[in-house]
Amino acid sequence: MGKSSEELDQTLKGDGRQPDVAHDISPFMAPPRGSPALRSAPSSIAGVSRPLLPPSMPPARARAPVVVLTGTPGTGKTTHAQLLQQASPVPLQHINVGDWVKDKGLYQDYDDEWQSYTVDEDKLLDELEPLAAAGGIILDWHTSDIFPERWPDLVVVLRCDHSKLWDRLEKRGYPLKKIQENNEAEIMEVVLDEVRSSYPPEIVVELQSETTDDLEANVARIVQWIEAWREDHDTSDQ
Ligand SMILES: Nc1ncnc2c1ncn2[C@@H]1O[C@H](COP(=O)(O)OP(=O)(O)OP(=O)(O)O)[C@@H](O)[C@H]1O
Ligand SMILES: [Mg+2]
Repeated sequence: MGKSSEELDQTLKGDGRQPDVAHDISPFMAPPRGSPALRSAPSSIAGVSRPLLPPSMPPARARAPVVVLTGTPGTGKTTHAQLLQQASPVPLQHINVGDWVKDKGLYQDYDDEWQSYTVDEDKLLDELEPLAAAGGIILDWHTSDIFPERWPDLVVVLRCDHSKLWDRLEKRGYPLKKIQENNEAEIMEVVLDEVRSSYPPEIVVELQSETTDDLEANVARIVQWIEAWREDHDTSDQ
């Protein structure tokens, strides 16, 4: 059953206004690339499957997947992650990577101009490695191409019309420069581009995140994918 509109409103109100975390702002300056191919993203994720896990993986990995939720800042990663965590048929730990970086001091410095932290990627990956190996996590971050290819079972790239995104970022009180930069990144499909060059196409899905209907539908689709994934990886009678 879907969320009531009150529950959705509650989730949508929880927009943190903390400074954004970037491992580097430069990825958002990447040149544009041809977009037509990107439109051919899988329309359904229910059938996405993964190759058999290598025998060295711990058994827990076979019981819950690693879901990466990514997209330009403001596209709705955290909102989706919170709802997905509630709706998931298997327990999933929501890791807001930006918050982790701040809370655990996994950064090199803080850039006042961009109001962003420069992430210490080695430290971050060391922290996350055991969790990714165990499975059952949602990795919520706008930079996903630093995660090793072996980590995710599903990579969801959230997309949003740039004028809507502008409004969302403006409401957060972001500096104009940062709003422009992120808006341009969304138009140029920078995150999608990074993801597509980092992970196999069969685990990548692009989902629109503009309305509460999108939100509900997306969460339902990911839940459906998790159910299918669980059936594929069920080891209970083996
Ligand atoms: N599908 C949607 N429909 C309506 N509003 C949405 C949707 N997705 C996100 N929002 C709203 O947009 C704002 C940004 O969402 P959210 O904080 O989840 O984005 P984010 O991708 O996690 O951003 P960041 O990368 O900066 O952490 C919030 O106010 C949220 O309520
Ligand atoms: Mg967020």
